[in-house]
Amino acid sequence: MLTITPTHRPFHHELTVPGDKSISHRSIMFSALAKGDTQITGFLKSADCLSTMACFRALGVEIEETGDVITVHGRGLRGLRAPQRILDAGNSGTTTRLMSGILAAQNFESTLTGDASIQKRPMKRVIEPLTAMGADITSEKGNGCAPLLIRGRKLHDIEWTSSVASAQVKSCILLAALCAGCSASVTEPALSRDHSERMLLSFGADVRSTKNPGGTFTAFIAPTYEFTSPGSIVVPGDISSAAYFLAAAMMVPGSEILVKNVGINPTRAGILTVLERMGADISAENADVTGEPCADLLLKHSELTAPGCDENGDLVIGGDLIPTLIDELPMIAVLATQLPCRTIIRDAAELKVKESDRIAVMTKNLKRMGADIEATDDGFIISGPAPLHGAEIDPHLDHRIAMSLAVAALAADGETVIRDADCVNISYPEFYQELRKLL
Ligand code: S3P
Repeated sequence: MLTITPTHRPFHHELTVPGDKSISHRSIMFSALAKGDTQITGFLKSADCLSTMACFRALGVEIEETGDVITVHGRGLRGLRAPQRILDAGNSGTTTRLMSGILAAQNFESTLTGDASIQKRPMKRVIEPLTAMGADITSEKGNGCAPLLIRGRKLHDIEWTSSVASAQVKSCILLAALCAGCSASVTEPALSRDHSERMLLSFGADVRSTKNPGGTFTAFIAPTYEFTSPGSIVVPGDISSAAYFLAAAMMVPGSEILVKNVGINPTRAGILTVLERMGADISAENADVTGEPCADLLLKHSELTAPGCDENGDLVIGGDLIPTLIDELPMIAVLATQLPCRTIIRDAAELKVKESDRIAVMTKNLKRMGADIEATDDGFIISGPAPLHGAEIDPHLDHRIAMSLAVAALAADGETVIRDADCVNISYPEFYQELRKLL
């Protein structure tokens, strides 16, 4: 239980957020599979990424931690060893789905599982394409979820079309092909985050991305024979973590926030488009565009006039924008309660199968805080502005819900109590310490 007391005093704050979660996972995975050593700086030491690290250690990969630098001694594409125990992905969907692809192509058997939430999340979306590549992978309970029993074997080329825009599905297939030495093409309805493609390129793999005439996207990997460490990887700050602090400055009049060194890869930065449509005064400075683009983000509080509304006066967030801000939708829902219009969030049914059913859990909790919010099949309809009041919040052990509602609590009337507040350790262990600095 954590109690949050609102602040009505403007704050001026500068911070750096911890490393990007998606890139941190991949930095361990790709370095482990490469020839040579890799030094990783900016790695996110949160529960999810530590789960990935522990899985690779169990597969025989030596990983050293010296201060803020992680050194991975790569074992090459054929160098992983059979684990002596069940691999535990904890709460991490990225670990479970990406590792499934890697493990399917090994010459040993393994079992991969995770916590209660992971054991409810859909794994058919990776079981099906891997099986089509010749993999032997079964859901032990027969429900399409983890635990997964993976009997590694030789895989073959694949051309796969995914019904969801999911970087986890795409990366799983690319990694399976990488480890199997075959080719793969994955077509998705909209472009999901492309961190895997960028990092694969920096390790020398032949990866191409194309936008197809119908608006779909295809990622292709050719058979890989040489996979060599670039020597070092610098992980930028996580825009998903930065989003909470940008939002806090939007909620508290007179505030100003500078978040330094944030990854602004266009496949992740949809939140910036939405903040502008809400009327935010935001600028990106010092953009550095090598590998993963990053910048310092400065947001000055301004009146939220929602200039991005359509002809009906609604702010509509949907379509291809959704994959670029999928993890920020709980925070966006909170901000929407303060807009002088209706916000319609659609095409986001994926929210139901995240760490929790984020449509149901956000709707229930925001209603408790006084919001006018309705759950739909694929998102929310939120009518604002509605004054928020303190309430007792149950984030259902979902880190992004706890953090979004903690920001809502800052601008609410009265105290808010967050149950199981330490679930933020999944992606941002220092979150509350940083938030307290705003008070
Ligand atoms: C992630 C991809 C997204 C995102 C998740 C991290 C990744 O999931 O929601 O937090 O690192 O590839 P999906 O691929 O299921 O959309």
